Amino acid sequence: MACPTTFALFILISLILLQPRTALQYPEELINGLEQNLVALNSPTMSPSEPPNLQISTTLSSSSPIVPALFVIGDSSVDCGTNNFLGTFARADRLPYGRDFDTHQPTGRFCNGRVPVDYLAERLGLPFVPSYIGQTGPVEDMIHGVNYASAGAGIIFSSGSELGQHISFTQQIQQVMDTYEQFTLSMGEDAAAELISNSVFYISIGTNDYIHYYLRNVSNVQSLYLPWSFNQFLASTMKQEIKNLYNTNVRKVVVMGLAPIGCAPYYLWQYERENGECVQMINDMILEFNFVVRYMVEELSLELVDADIIFCDAFEASMDIIMNNKRYGFNVTADACCGLGKYAGWIMCISPEMACSNASNHIWWDQFHPTDAVNAILADNVWSGLHKEICYPMNLQNIITQKDR
Ligand SMILES: *[C@@H]1O[C@H](CO)[C@@H](O)[C@H](O)[C@H]1NC(C)=O
Ligand SMILES: *[C@@H]1O[C@H](CO)[C@@H](O)[C@H](O)[C@H]1NC(C)=O
Ligand SMILES: *[C@@H]1O[C@H](CO)[C@@H](O)[C@H](O)[C@H]1NC(C)=O
Repeated sequence: MACPTTFALFILISLILLQPRTALQYPEELINGLEQNLVALNSPTMSPSEPPNLQISTTLSSSSPIVPALFVIGDSSVDCGTNNFLGTFARADRLPYGRDFDTHQPTGRFCNGRVPVDYLAERLGLPFVPSYIGQTGPVEDMIHGVNYASAGAGIIFSSGSELGQHISFTQQIQQVMDTYEQFTLSMGEDAAAELISNSVFYISIGTNDYIHYYLRNVSNVQSLYLPWSFNQFLASTMKQEIKNLYNTNVRKVVVMGLAPIGCAPYYLWQYERENGECVQMINDMILEFNFVVRYMVEELSLELVDADIIFCDAFEASMDIIMNNKRYGFNVTADACCGLGKYAGWIMCISPEMACSNASNHIWWDQFHPTDAVNAILADNVWSGLHKEICYPMNLQNIITQKDR
């Protein structure tokens, strides 16, 4: 497997293309408490560049919100700009990323357009949720929710750290606690508890524990853990963190399962697939992870009876799209829209010239991430099971519209 060569090439190209501009200015109070962990990371070999100007409309859509806020925890599947503030190779702050987004500008989303939580915010009658790490203004700027997600982050702290800095799962949960404290100080304990308990928390993380940890055999992990015990470990960590959220008055949680990354262009290239067949060995691990996490969510629901915690299976949704691609309007199922090499999976997407002209008939946007069109379908399924029921024991709309208990 040509992995080391690719990585060297990737570093080289990145160094050429990502010319460092000015020194990074961290919003210090947000980074507080993270420093200890961040210095533990290898210092990245590039200087981070300034975050781009994020001019995203924050006006409410015409309908009034049906929940107070949406909070997002996760990785690049939902990052909306966190990594623009960090020193990392995992960034989506230049075109063609964002070219089909509402502003047609890169925002840090790893997509040509929207990520699933953008579509869900719209469903909830909320503005697009801004990145937490970009918040320097008053607490009121955060009352419709914030997004803590950071590309490269995993459930395990060091997953993805070869890419540079990220905000790991545990650190993101800590940021939720900090947000809660800020709300309590500004609006009082009762109002803060009310806001948090009625808001939706969306968790989409875990794929980097495979891509950047298990599958890379970091720290000899494959010899120490079979996939099953690795999955158990990830699920029990996630369970503990959801309990921590519960103790902060969180009551409505969507836990996203993982997508079939064995079908991602990067692995089709790496495993030298001939006809775009998915890498079954990888998908089997993901299936197992989803199974274990779904079971964990069921257990947790029995423990935390006044909480609504649902599991939504991105694997099922994605396989439905891949199998029935024509029906959904896709005719390119294996090749990424943007990238180089076979399946456009060899070299990551770093310039507009690498991209196809119209992503709307592609399932994959880049080596690892789906297109806006797929994210829209995914969000519809989380919301109401519009195309396929993927949420257990109910979908997001059910949680919100059910009678107060
Ligand atoms: C994982 O790495 C260790 C050494 O670091 C090696 O002994 C082991 O064979 C590797 N496992 C696999 C499945 O490649
Ligand atoms: C997919 O469909 C578009 C038109 O809708 C066409 O231009 C393109 O060649 C098709 N691609 C493949 C791989 O069939
Ligand atoms: C992409 O193609 C779809 C139909 O295949 C079309 O509706 C859409 O306008 C095209 N988008 C662009 C940017 O050309």
